[in-house]
Amino acid sequence: MAQFDLVIRNGTVATASDRFQADVGISGGCIAALGRGLGAGGEEIDASGRLVLPGGVDAHCHLDQPSSDGSVCADGFTSGSVSAAAGGTTTIIPFALQMRGQSLAAAVRDYHRRAEGKSLIDYAFHLIISDPTPQVLGQELPTLIEQGYTSFKIYMTYDDMKLNDRQILEVLALARREGAMVMIHAENSDVIGWLTDQLEQAGLTTPYHHAVSRPMPVEREATHRAITLSEIVDVPVLIVHVSGREAVEQIHTAQGRGLRVYAETCPQYLYLSEEDLKKPGFEGAKCICSPPPRDPANQEAIWSGLRGGIFQVFSSDHAPFRFADPAGKQLRGTDASFRYIPNGVPGLETRLALLFNGISEGRIDLATFVAVTATRPAQIYGLYPRKGSIMVGADADITLWDPQAKWTIRNDELHHEVDYTPYEGITVTGRPVLTLSRGEVVSRDGEPVGRAGRGEFLPCERPTPARPQGQVTTP
Ligand code: URP
Ligand code: ZN
Ligand code: ZN
Repeated sequence: MAQFDLVIRNGTVATASDRFQADVGISGGCIAALGRGLGAGGEEIDASGRLVLPGGVDAHCHLDQPSSDGSVCADGFTSGSVSAAAGGTTTIIPFALQMRGQSLAAAVRDYHRRAEGKSLIDYAFHLIISDPTPQVLGQELPTLIEQGYTSFKIYMTYDDMKLNDRQILEVLALARREGAMVMIHAENSDVIGWLTDQLEQAGLTTPYHHAVSRPMPVEREATHRAITLSEIVDVPVLIVHVSGREAVEQIHTAQGRGLRVYAETCPQYLYLSEEDLKKPGFEGAKCICSPPPRDPANQEAIWSGLRGGIFQVFSSDHAPFRFADPAGKQLRGTDASFRYIPNGVPGLETRLALLFNGISEGRIDLATFVAVTATRPAQIYGLYPRKGSIMVGADADITLWDPQAKWTIRNDELHHEVDYTPYEGITVTGRPVLTLSRGEVVSRDGEPVGRAGRGEFLPCERPTPARPQGQVTTP
């Protein structure tokens, strides 16, 4: 008689703090035991020579997200989740976007309709707040937070989404009262607008000029301001998609002062640079994202920030716009100003392997890899201990890695619906060979397995204690 539904034997288990030889016993979709010489499983997997890691938590991706410019996300919940699973990820957290004038509750209902019955792996939602009316802040958000939507992103740029400083303060105060986490897209909108106008007047409109319109001070100033506003309200914040040294310095200084400032970075800031935006013709559009990729020295600053614990979260920021598509990067044709090119790059499937490659290159250690790709995002967004680690009682979301496998990224072999990857031709070491979601195989040797639709919606806990009293501390 089998003691477990499944036993993974002889692997090396690694968490954000430990690394040990152990079998993993799985029953009812959860981890039931860790130890050597566990009893029999109904099924057994030999993990000799493999690392047994928590499945990845991709805490920043855009799937089937409506836009006001007419661009269309190539990936919805089926292709996005299948692609994520093939890359070793077992939880995704995309965004339910509130359009201006729209009720937030209606945006969440709409997003559930988009996701329902489609995902291969489990998913939660962040909210995007673009219209923080008294009704949204006073009634809708507290109710939604209670229901498990406990993190939200706000923008300091993009005309249809940006909040002014007063609105940001109001959202932060609400987050403090309710114990929610605010993610901030930190770029100075007026500077970008002014520089864009200057560039266009000079006829400088190629994809490369996107980077010129968003130089590092644009991000540095907004990061500083976001941190300052969070300090005034005395609430934690997370700065998303940090691109380079100057923003890292702001975050490092704030963390050194004891402020609860968290930070996220993404593969594009480790592997892409503004040189990629200079590629001939319109090719550079493939790598347009905001903030833009910087240069090799800034890539080094991001690796160093990962190594030094400045970043807690490593996400893909998967923004799936096809290249050869009038609903994608070529929204206004190939001669259009960079201003009209949809921002973002795809990366759900390649996120983990690109960071894992940093281990074989001696840039980060395995514990840091597990921390920023699974454990810390699960903790920061209220999914821990169900997700994000390998421990008794957690969901059996596990990825087996071959740490020696050398392979070259080719878009033809990926499972998203985007017609390119910005990482085409990059050779990396380390590959996920088997991914389990709640004990069920969802990917084997880079090929998805299982029924899209089995993934469940995950309500999130409040990441921090609610502090309904004393909205602002007096100096
Ligand atoms: O360029 C980016 N990052 N596009 C995706 C949307 C966002 O701001 O995260
Ligand atoms: Zn953003
Ligand atoms: Zn994003």
